[in-house]
Amino acid sequence: MQGMLTRRQFVFVSAAALSALALSGCSGNAEQSPAPNESLGSKPEPTSTASAADNPSSAPEASVGAPSAQTAPQANSSGGKILVACFSATGNTRAVAQTAAAQLKADYFEVEAAVPYSSKDLDYGDSSTRATVEHNDPSARPAIANAPDLSAYDVVLIGHPIWWGKAPRLICTLIESVDFAGKKVAEFCTSGSSGVEGAAAELEGMLPGADWIGAKRFAAGASDSDIANWLDSLAL
Ligand SMILES: Cc1cc2nc3c(=O)[nH]c(=O)nc-3n(C[C@H](O)[C@H](O)[C@H](O)COP(=O)(O)O)c2cc1C
Repeated sequence: MQGMLTRRQFVFVSAAALSALALSGCSGNAEQSPAPNESLGSKPEPTSTASAADNPSSAPEASVGAPSAQTAPQANSSGGKILVACFSATGNTRAVAQTAAAQLKADYFEVEAAVPYSSKDLDYGDSSTRATVEHNDPSARPAIANAPDLSAYDVVLIGHPIWWGKAPRLICTLIESVDFAGKKVAEFCTSGSSGVEGAAAELEGMLPGADWIGAKRFAAGASDSDIANWLDSLAL
């Protein structure tokens, strides 16, 4: 896994793979090319490469219809009920999400793939691997093992890694599986270097009934103060 995510392979992906791929989003709209800051070639190595699939003990329990990671809603200091929901393949986004949930005194829910992503699945240097194949199919909707019940929440923060400048298609599955209508929704991501803009445009477009309140990219290992500053800016 470590060898899979070396800078050399990012460069390889940039030079060989991305030149051949037209990035496309959940909405199915093909894109002509990634924004400069979304180039795989410009991003540094991910700082964590251990797949949850490789470390089952770190993954919360999954059960369809019975979200084990979700606790009873609790009001934050403003009286609103907030859920931080994330998908994380290698742990970087999970760390940010759990810090955010703790700072907000919000509930935390981890969305899991019905079939966990293996290290091989995440090898973006190989055009035949699962993540690559899913990304290249705008209609792909990888099944999720669990989904949060949002009925008790006023605000939902959705966290995910950036894959090829976008959210993993599993996030599309989540958005199409859960009713976000009337919720305030913010998005956050972790990435090697790509910004959140491409993912945010896509997700906001998929949530016309929600009140989109912002999006933020964090580096892996983002500091508590970085996370707190963004949460403060949301004025929840
Ligand atoms: C399939 C795949 C595609 C990726 N694409 C990008 C990308 O386009 N831009 C980027 O900056 N990082 C990219 N990364 C790196 C991840 O965004 C980064 O390591 C992130 O922090 C992983 O989050 P996680 O540990 O929560 O899964 C990619 C990683 C994988 C596995």
